[in-house]
Amino acid sequence: MDPVRNPYAPGAGQRPPELAGRDTELSAFDVVLERIAHGRPERSLVLTGLRGVGKTVLLNQLRSQAISRGWGTGKIEARPDQSLRRPLSAALHMALRELGPRHRDQESMEQVLAVLKAFALRQTADAKVRDRWQPGIDVPAATGRADSGDMEIDLVELLSDAAGVAADVGSGVALFIDEMQDVQPDDVSAICAACHELSQQGAPLIVVGAGLPHLPAVLSASKSYSERLFRYLRIDRLDRVAADRALLAPAEREGVAFDAAALDALYAAADGYPYFVQAYGKVTWDVAASSPITAADVAMAAPAAEAELAVGFFGSRYDRATPAEREYMHAMAELGGPAGAAVGTSDVAVSLGRKPASLSPARDSLIKKGLVYSAERGQIAFTVPHFGRYLLSHAD
Ligand SMILES: Nc1ncnc2c1ncn2[C@@H]1O[C@H](COP(=O)(O)OP(=O)(O)O)[C@@H](O)[C@H]1O
Ligand SMILES: [Mg+2]
Repeated sequence: MDPVRNPYAPGAGQRPPELAGRDTELSAFDVVLERIAHGRPERSLVLTGLRGVGKTVLLNQLRSQAISRGWGTGKIEARPDQSLRRPLSAALHMALRELGPRHRDQESMEQVLAVLKAFALRQTADAKVRDRWQPGIDVPAATGRADSGDMEIDLVELLSDAAGVAADVGSGVALFIDEMQDVQPDDVSAICAACHELSQQGAPLIVVGAGLPHLPAVLSASKSYSERLFRYLRIDRLDRVAADRALLAPAEREGVAFDAAALDALYAAADGYPYFVQAYGKVTWDVAASSPITAADVAMAAPAAEAELAVGFFGSRYDRATPAEREYMHAMAELGGPAGAAVGTSDVAVSLGRKPASLSPARDSLIKKGLVYSAERGQIAFTVPHFGRYLLSHAD
């Protein structure tokens, strides 16, 4: 069928033509916004899940929800080895600019911007000169607030001031942090401390996170009370009804239908993973000659869809691994099977005939690259669904 009208959208953070199966999360967030805006205690949300399940698009949707309620919002994508100070300043600046025009007292607005500027310009001692950055804020930087250099102290002061501005206009501030597992330990602990402090004050500011399945462990390793700050929502595969809707609703808008057997075959292939639903849907659409799309179309499209996934989804990640890391992952795949079950790190060592300690560098670096995660002590699993299957069928 006409590829120009193909509605499906495989891609990282790519907004899907139909956000299927996430109604529970969307309404949970509505309640959070409503309660926080009324000064009621409420835990913020943190979305966790494997790669390609739709955390980023859901996070973006939550942000839209906050914007449509008049909240000031900003978003960060955390990167390993990067301090949050600068990206957080930019995100908060964005949020304040959304609130600014509604604030009657421009002077207090400018005071907060001055504190934000002080926070942004306060660099850690080891910051390189090229890292120096000028926020686009015209007012002079404040002194004596949010500029101590201690992230925890500074963040509490800055976020309280920002929340104060939001409270003045009867709304709130929501900061969204994607890939939150990559936030540096000091910054994680500062964020938790700030959220803790602000929630005790009943201040209308929340941090909404998204990240890999071990994110809750990262947060609780930092602050034991993090479970009481965040409500963890596991974002997972779509069930059959939602996966069908993800395919059918966009097609229907183009006047295209699917046979029941085609939907069976697509669910079997995509296994409910949103990225795969989009990937198989896209190729199948292009291959099909006419509506309704049939199981034969799906069968014809499958090899091309798999080849695209092998390059774009799996291969792009596999390529980032060193030979030693690849060897480690192949051992994991053989132990965990095509389903990619979690395996014991000691079993990986046995199967490679090595001492566990000698494999720690490879494992740690795979974790840092976001290819594997440790769900519990001594266990390791792929962050990418179907990665075990991919490795087993692509011997190095
Ligand atoms: N609820 C959903 N329904 C249909 N497609 C979705 C849904 N969520 C995500 N997708 C699609 O899945 C892919 C991966 O989404 P993304 O948010 O990047 O995942 P993650 O951040 O978890 O790795 C994108 O192509 C997106 O369009
Ligand atoms: Mg993402």
